[in-house]
Amino acid sequence: MFRLLAFIGALSVCFAYATGANCPLCIGVVACSTNQTIPKVTCTPAVVNQTVLQLNTFYRNTTEFTASSKVYSCVKVNFRSTGSQVDTFAVQGCTAGSKSICRQPTIDFNGSLNCSSQTSSSSTNNYSQRSSASVLLSVLFIIGAIVTAS
Ligand SMILES: *[C@@H]1O[C@H](CO)[C@@H](O)[C@H](O)[C@H]1NC(C)=O
Ligand SMILES: *[C@@H]1O[C@H](CO)[C@@H](O)[C@H](O)[C@H]1NC(C)=O
Ligand SMILES: *[C@@H]1O[C@H](CO)[C@@H](O)[C@H](O)[C@H]1NC(C)=O
Ligand SMILES: *[C@@H]1O[C@H](CO)[C@@H](O)[C@H](O)[C@H]1NC(C)=O
Ligand SMILES: *[C@@H]1O[C@H](CO)[C@@H](O)[C@H](O)[C@H]1NC(C)=O
Repeated sequence: MFRLLAFIGALSVCFAYATGANCPLCIGVVACSTNQTIPKVTCTPAVVNQTVLQLNTFYRNTTEFTASSKVYSCVKVNFRSTGSQVDTFAVQGCTAGSKSICRQPTIDFNGSLNCSSQTSSSSTNNYSQRSSASVLLSVLFIIGAIVTAS
C-alpha cells in the first residue's frame, strides 16, 4: 500500500517537473473568484486548448496560441460588461509560446476587459526544480524500501 503510494507520488513528481510550467487554471466567474483557491496545473496542449477556447470569445485570432510549444505562458482574463456590478467572464490558464495573447486584437465589446499574461518561469527554474525533484524522489524510494523491508 505505502509502496504503491510512494510510486504514485514519485510518478506525479516526475510528471510535474518534466515540463515545469504551472499555471492557475479556472474557467468561469465563480471558479476564478478571488475567494477561491485556484488550483495550479501543468500546462499541456489539452489545458492550452481548454483555455484558448474560452479566450476565443474576445480575441479574434488565437491560432498561434494553441501551436505546439515547449514554452507556455500563464494568462488571466476577466471581463465586466457595461452596467454590471460583477465580472461576467473569467478565465485563467495556459497559452502556448512566450507571446502575450493580451496584445491580440479583440472583438468589439461594451465593458472592461482585463488581461495579464506572463511567460511561465519553467526554463529559468529548471535546475533547482530538477534537483529538488530528485531529492524528493530519493526520499520516496527510501520510504518505499523501508516499508517493503519491514
Ligand atoms: C470574499 O470573502 C470576503 C470575506 O470573507 C467577503 O466579504 C466577500 O464578499 C467575498 N467575495 C466574494 C466574491 O465572494
Ligand atoms: C488542440 O486543438 C488543436 C486545434 O484545434 C488540435 O489540432 C489539437 O489536437 C488539440 N489538442 C488537444 C490535446 O486537444
Ligand atoms: C491568424 O494568425 C496566424 C498566425 O499569426 C496567421 O497565420 C493566420 O493567417 C491568422 N488568421 C486569420 C484569420 O487572420
Ligand atoms: C480592470 O482593472 C482595473 C484597474 O485595475 C479595474 O479598475 C477594473 O475594475 C478591472 N476590470 C475588471 C473587469 O476586472
Ligand atoms: C455598445 O453599446 C452601444 C451603445 O449602447 C451600442 O450601439 C453598440 O452596439 C454596443 N456594442 C456591442 C458590441 O455590444
